[in-house]
Amino acid sequence: MRAQRQSPCKVNLVLNVLGRRADGFHELETLIHPVRLYDRLTFERAPTGIELTCSEPNLPTDSQNLVWRAVAMFLEASGIKAGLRIDLQKEIPLSAGLGGGSGNAGTTLLGLNEMFGFPLSAERLNQIASSLGSDVPFFLQSNPALATGRGERIQSLEPLAALSGAALVLAHPGFGVSTPWAYQNLAKYPAALNGQAGRARQVVSLLQAGDLRAAGAAMYNSLEAPVLEKFPLLKLFLEFFREKGACAALMSGSGSSTFALMEHQVAAQELAEEFKSKFGSANWVKVATF
Ligand code: C5P
Repeated sequence: MRAQRQSPCKVNLVLNVLGRRADGFHELETLIHPVRLYDRLTFERAPTGIELTCSEPNLPTDSQNLVWRAVAMFLEASGIKAGLRIDLQKEIPLSAGLGGGSGNAGTTLLGLNEMFGFPLSAERLNQIASSLGSDVPFFLQSNPALATGRGERIQSLEPLAALSGAALVLAHPGFGVSTPWAYQNLAKYPAALNGQAGRARQVVSLLQAGDLRAAGAAMYNSLEAPVLEKFPLLKLFLEFFREKGACAALMSGSGSSTFALMEHQVAAQELAEEFKSKFGSANWVKVATF
């Protein structure tokens, strides 16, 4: 028995931190959108054990890997005594704020549950996903979503009118940002640490009303405060995107990816080419749709 799955990534169109919690996590309201850019996962039954292979040599393939842990938790929760071989072909960069690893974990849970005849309920999958990471529950569904709590409480939304036909230019500088570091360093920026609730819903309303420009102007990411100060190159990326007329230029998640939101794919393609000639081909630059 062999199954293949595409594993998508995401951008945060709003990531508004509302404060630090007693458990050390941060309370959020975030608007997350899936992006049509994929890693590929293949699952195959094996006699015993969990064997993970990966195209990316920098990723551990043992119990430190989120996919490995998702498999182990699925087998334990379902009581299934099977071995599994999993292959992960990476296209999405690591530590990039694009949720690549979280998407891999969510896709693994969905893929295995289907492969074994749906032994786990949606609720149980959601519990496992939350324990794997704050961003994993989002990837158990495929719509844009408002997420609250530490990001694990998901409210799925219908497709957002203003984004049909729009496109993204995604740029990754070749280095990653540690998510715990970004959150810890928010403490130096009280305004960014203690955001006013309501920004994410406001952007949803504008996107539902079809006003891409107004929505773009209201997009926001609290984590830019510490990350852009430490990595000024990312500030240059965002300034360039804005000069070139992007509806929004923002960092995704805790970085290091930035993105430009463009009205059409052709404009996004042109901007990607201009970006490459200005900043060089060492960066990872992709055009993607929603
Ligand atoms: O949940 P996840 O494993 O993705 O979180 C990684 C780290 O990011 C946490 O250990 C925490 O330091 C930080 N984080 C946070 N508040 C959130 C999400 C993540 O402080 N809402």
